[in-house]
Amino acid sequence: MNTSTVGPATVVGLMSDIAAVGNDPTRGGYSRPIYSAADMELREWFISEAQRRSLDVETDRNGIIWAWWNPAGLPLCDAVATGSHLDSVPGGGAYDGPLGVATALIAIDLLRARGFVPRRPVVLAVFPEEEGSRYGLACLGSQLLTGDVDPDRVRGLVDSDGVTYAELAIANGHDPRHIGPDPERLAGIGVFVELHVEQGRGLTDLGRPVAIGSSIIGHGRWRLSFNGQGNHAGTTLMTDRRDPMIAAAQTVLDVRRLAGNHRDARATVGKLDPIPGGTNVIASRVDVWLDVRHDSDAVVAAIVSDIADAAHRSGADEGCDVTLTEASISPTVSFDPILRDRISRVLPDAPILATGAGHDAGVLAAYLPTAMLFVRNPTGISHAPQEYVEDVDAEAGAVALADVLQDLSNR
Ligand code: GLV
Ligand code: MN
Ligand code: MN
Repeated sequence: MNTSTVGPATVVGLMSDIAAVGNDPTRGGYSRPIYSAADMELREWFISEAQRRSLDVETDRNGIIWAWWNPAGLPLCDAVATGSHLDSVPGGGAYDGPLGVATALIAIDLLRARGFVPRRPVVLAVFPEEEGSRYGLACLGSQLLTGDVDPDRVRGLVDSDGVTYAELAIANGHDPRHIGPDPERLAGIGVFVELHVEQGRGLTDLGRPVAIGSSIIGHGRWRLSFNGQGNHAGTTLMTDRRDPMIAAAQTVLDVRRLAGNHRDARATVGKLDPIPGGTNVIASRVDVWLDVRHDSDAVVAAIVSDIADAAHRSGADEGCDVTLTEASISPTVSFDPILRDRISRVLPDAPILATGAGHDAGVLAAYLPTAMLFVRNPTGISHAPQEYVEDVDAEAGAVALADVLQDLSNR
């Protein structure tokens, strides 16, 4: 990492300092799973940037990093929190997560340059495993904080290398015995605002740089496991096979067909694990990972149920057992309307946009007033290397966030 020291820091400067961390030469883009070398380097980078700004940094027992700006020495309650995540999906873009972290740091610089002294503590937060790309459970850090997920379940989660969350945490200096709900810490946060790259084309179509979030559509993840008979690709007659890949392939097609029955539904199979996974091996098991989203939670449930029925039929046709396991479910979230209106008064030109992407802000919204800001992404592409933010929009995002933090922390 090279750190630019000439002139005031900028979002673009911070983003370029981390541009080489977690580059994925195979997939393209960035692969920064929780507590990987890349994620650890980014976490260290955030801590040193926060310390450079004389913020008080602590890492809590759930692995969330908090950096406090409290120049008036106020009691640490009713804080104005902002931040995002640093982990990524496999082969993700540069901005999903880090943009919210970099703009938070620069927002503090901007507020200081204005001579502003907050009347509520301001705290920057970095949430681990937002993407759930290592353990399949999105927003793991915020869900541990709130108690939405059982810590015993988290300790036992296993990644694709067979490493449990507990083992990974220990290897990275976190004691997994103490993960879990932290009501005291949560009670100290009065409001949370997460800035994020927009993951669609809403702002580009409207010709605006920054939007205010209205809602997150309900979404969840499921694993469909097809169990057949592993066997030899050359010696097993086509008529003698119980090949789970065939049932899985039919199910992938059914996912698209069945989601198509509901307007605005989204259903995706982005990950498929054949076991053992050899070219000359008929798989004994295939795991199909399913992501389903709709703004009606009932529609999400109906789609998953239809997909499960279709999967069981395809499994039966091939002589395979099928099991369905829910990995996570997040109901539709509407952000606090009073907070949203207040932010609209601060940013009168910002349109209000809904999003189909999940965020830690969506988890926290059930516990405290929460809002989101989105920054224009001209490609409209996300979770892929083509995700993009113009330099001028990145800085505009930091100014918008600073304006919002100033308003909220001024009482
Ligand atoms: C996270 O970005 C998600 O929407 O899955
Ligand atoms: Mn994401
Ligand atoms: Mn994100």
